[in-house]
Amino acid sequence: MAKLSVNVDHIATIRNARGVLEPDPVAAAVLAELAGADGITIHLREDRRHIHDRDVEVLRQTIKTRMNLEMALTDEMIAIALKTLPDSVTLVPEGRHELTTEGGLDVLLLQNTLKQKIALLQQAGIIVSLFIEPDIEQIKASHKVGADYMEIHTGMYCEVRTETARREQLRRIELAISAARKLGLGINAGHGLDYRNISRVVALSGIEEFNIGHSIISRAALVGMERAVREMVELLKG
Ligand code: PXP
Repeated sequence: MAKLSVNVDHIATIRNARGVLEPDPVAAAVLAELAGADGITIHLREDRRHIHDRDVEVLRQTIKTRMNLEMALTDEMIAIALKTLPDSVTLVPEGRHELTTEGGLDVLLLQNTLKQKIALLQQAGIIVSLFIEPDIEQIKASHKVGADYMEIHTGMYCEVRTETARREQLRRIELAISAARKLGLGINAGHGLDYRNISRVVALSGIEEFNIGHSIISRAALVGMERAVREMVELLKG
């Protein structure tokens, strides 16, 4: 069965809307773990719009499953990762004006820097994943620069509106899974996945872990964190 890492960024978004201390992403992480999450994901953005440095530090001490830190490829973030030592780092592209991560990393373009920074993180015992589009050239380049995992960007699959386009995107994901398998690259996936669109991706099989945030936190606002996580865990059973 595929694993679930719950992204709790948007609990921090709600907290920050009032500039107070609640709701706390640390409490959300505890509830997600109690409901069966295999890991907790947070994205420390350069502008600190949701997760703050304090959250990273406290979560490192309180997460009992695995901590996945999403971050941009900057010297500041690399230094924070080396100090905090999350179980894994997922490198993502980051633009200040985007609402959420748009598009995958261009591994081909960033090859030299990536190779060096990935080695640095791995020497510290951190597993490194690259968030990329389901594109064969990007997958080959991810393997070449020494990444442990790729995280397939599922955004396009989630956004398209016709059945033909959806099938086309699922096919891209399927080909990406098979290419990564041949190279021995680990396979995660995420972005835009929700309670309606997840099952067809689970059915492809071969994805080790899903990183899901917005849909779970949205549902949690209405039905509670434990129920929202438990329902997603059920869907991952396929
Ligand atoms: N994976 C990565 C690399 C992301 O940047 C995000 C968004 O922070 C997610 C997964 C989760 O996406 P969503 O919030 O749409 O589930």
